Amino acid sequence: MKLIIVKNYDEVSEEASKIVIDQLTSHPNSILGLATGSTPIGLYQKLIEANQMKKISFKNVTTFNLDEYIGLDMKHPQSYHQFMYHQLFSKIDINMSNTHLPKNDINHMHEHAKAYNDLLSNTKIDLQILGIGSNGHIGFNEPGTPFGNETFIVKLEEQTRKDNMYFFNSLEEVPEYAITMGIKNIMRSKKIILLASGIEKSDAIYKMIYGDVTESIPASVLQLHPNVTVIMDDQASSKLPK
Ligand code: PGA
Repeated sequence: MKLIIVKNYDEVSEEASKIVIDQLTSHPNSILGLATGSTPIGLYQKLIEANQMKKISFKNVTTFNLDEYIGLDMKHPQSYHQFMYHQLFSKIDINMSNTHLPKNDINHMHEHAKAYNDLLSNTKIDLQILGIGSNGHIGFNEPGTPFGNETFIVKLEEQTRKDNMYFFNSLEEVPEYAITMGIKNIMRSKKIILLASGIEKSDAIYKMIYGDVTESIPASVLQLHPNVTVIMDDQASSKLPK
């Protein structure tokens, strides 16, 4: 694992944007794996600026998102479909038909998981962007998820729902289930960057890098991937040995 430690969130976003910009400059038809949550917002902002300044184009880029809540209408403001549209897709020159998120209708969730997995199995993500949960999850692969899992339906942990509550009005509104790429899908990516900012990520970051490779810390599986770069700020890296 390559570790990049910078001062603050803005610098995390800046370092990550350099890697994505390099990727799109050298391979304009790249397949990107995208994440939601608060962490990648600064990165997306910088990619929007680079696109508007014509440094990069998304015209030939394809994207696959990690996950989506189950049971929220795709038009719900907190659905990841809406998040991606407002934080990135509507502001860049991407062809919306090249963007992919799991469909999330509760009545067909297992069919949607299979369909998304089939799409992923027929492609290979060049660069996967990840955040990390305070409990060590990646995507919505919660602690205890078998490393062999492919796209599946997950019951979210109480901690994850609390962490994500600030996007909603109350804990009750945070969905209990989600559809997520599995660890196996994530590990097939050619290259991975994981972004982390803030003290609440420091424990998970320490265990991911220095702990045992264990299903109880899903991100620890990344120790087994040949091309991972972790970009973190001072606070997120504060538990790492100096
Ligand atoms: P966050 O979530 O970016 O909102 O902290 C990260 C994650 O849960 O993967």
